[in-house]
Amino acid sequence: MCGIVGYIGKRDIAPLLLEGLARLEYRGYDSAGIAVTAPKGGLKMVKAKGRVRELEAKVPARFKGTAGIAHTRWATHGAPSDENAHPHLSADEKVAVVHNGIIDNASDLRRKLEAEGVEFLSETDTEVLTHLIARSSAATLEDKVRQAVRLIEGTYGIAVLHADFPDRIVVARNGSPVVLGIGEKEMFVASDIAALVTHTRQIVTLDDGEMATLTAEDFRTYTTEGTSTSAEPTTVEWEAASYDMGGHDTYMHKEIHEQADAVDRVLRGRIDDRFSTVHLGGLNLDAREARQIRRVKILGCGTSYHAGMIGAQMIEELARIPADAEPASEFRYRNAVVDPDTLYIAVSQSGETYDVLAAVQELKRKGARVLGVVNVVGSAIARESDGGIYVHAGPEVCVVSTKCFTNTTVAFALLALHLGRTRDLSVADGKRIIAGLRRLPEQINEILKAEDEIKELAQEFADARSMLFIGRVRGYPVAREASLKLKEVSYIHAEAYPASELKHGPLALIEPALPTVAIVPDDDLLEKNRAALEEIKARSGKILAVAHQEQEKADRTVVVPKNEDELDPILMGIPLQLLAYHTALALGRDIDKPRNLAKSVTVE
Ligand code: G6P
Repeated sequence: MCGIVGYIGKRDIAPLLLEGLARLEYRGYDSAGIAVTAPKGGLKMVKAKGRVRELEAKVPARFKGTAGIAHTRWATHGAPSDENAHPHLSADEKVAVVHNGIIDNASDLRRKLEAEGVEFLSETDTEVLTHLIARSSAATLEDKVRQAVRLIEGTYGIAVLHADFPDRIVVARNGSPVVLGIGEKEMFVASDIAALVTHTRQIVTLDDGEMATLTAEDFRTYTTEGTSTSAEPTTVEWEAASYDMGGHDTYMHKEIHEQADAVDRVLRGRIDDRFSTVHLGGLNLDAREARQIRRVKILGCGTSYHAGMIGAQMIEELARIPADAEPASEFRYRNAVVDPDTLYIAVSQSGETYDVLAAVQELKRKGARVLGVVNVVGSAIARESDGGIYVHAGPEVCVVSTKCFTNTTVAFALLALHLGRTRDLSVADGKRIIAGLRRLPEQINEILKAEDEIKELAQEFADARSMLFIGRVRGYPVAREASLKLKEVSYIHAEAYPASELKHGPLALIEPALPTVAIVPDDDLLEKNRAALEEIKARSGKILAVAHQEQEKADRTVVVPKNEDELDPILMGIPLQLLAYHTALALGRDIDKPRNLAKSVTVE
């Protein structure tokens, strides 16, 4: 969703900010804009509906500045248009603001300002903030911004330029990420480190309620109350090259193919052969506390929720603790009973998803212990959690998640093993799971070798108007994620059902035109799954099975390598990522940026 980039220093600002915006494109957006403080005074601004390259085409050759801010917008208040794009300028054209988040009391504030004679140029909530800053009588830009944000209810990450204070950018954060990039005689700000890593890897992440002033020479942080805070830069490990396509045509393809290496990373340094367990340094949960857990509740959205469903099953199977997963977006609104003996786990690739963050905050308010299973180091959810596991998938750029899903399921396997070994899981079972985990990277590479075969299958499925995905117990979350992947990226309608529920409704849909994808692991439910395939075949349904051996009743079987029963779900969805990818490719879809979707949903 919306992205912010800002810079102050000696470099040519416009190309630098445009490049930063291009690196944020993956988040999803509909318009973009840029403003700079002109060397001869005043502000200059250009905005455009559409892609960053359309903005670039509108930026004049001479667009110099000493400081600048830029933005990619994802419409919330008001349609995508040049006027609604950020930055927003005050009436005297002295203040420019870019904003991520949502101002809840924007209409009240707008009405008050209009009554005072302010004319609004856009339909956005952000413009309110611009006028409030411009109308403040405070002497410094910091105080003007502070006064303005105090009047605001809602979430924001903002960056502000003021023509009378051309030597600085003032930024503030409440609920939307703001990251400072620390350079040599230059400073950067962004909503996402993706925009910074080509320039600096020294970063400072602001906390909610924190502000910062950036000058070319220095930065300082303080609270919205004005108290100084101490912020030591940390070094980010992600390489700038991780954001390049590296010879692939899309990020999705690249990320699918990175999975063996990514899994290697989530395992690295964590396996403890001596005690047949794993070390999870950031968990902040000692053995006694681990033994006291009576339930586990996993919360996430989209793909992360599905990874959480797999995680819940692994925890039940290996640690024998009752566990389930629920969409964080539902959980936070249903006034759930918060139980002190339950371990809550928030799952998120970005660590920014608003519904997940809000659920974490609600849980913390009620005294619960919350762990984060998160990819982005230092992200809001990672910081709000009491401890957790980083999944180390590396940057994921494609809007739809693939490698992070896989790594998250592996992280859950580690957690399940750890919890199991503090309870009743035997040394022998610990060893068995560890050996299975070690086999994963090689098995992933083996699956990916079948890409040509899956590509061929995808040509057949590209004509389908709808598809059914079924799986039973371990296979069900795999079916759900595969169905989500297909619909997100190919726009083909897809529905996932437990295979056990087939008779209770979906069987009515079966006909030759509705292909079924069935997840058929070689586990104790194999015969049950075969019976489901028979039922579909008897009604002339077309079947693609993902299985550990050829399935007689299926029209086609993609055979995947067998691992331990508990770990099979990690692998069985991988061929279906490729199926979704090649189906979308055959249909000419915008694979890395599917319509209407955003990588990080930072608003409600
Ligand atoms: C959005 C993305 C999904 C993602 C979900 C949760 O809907 O389009 O791909 O699974 O958010 O994101 P998170 O960063 O919390 O895992």
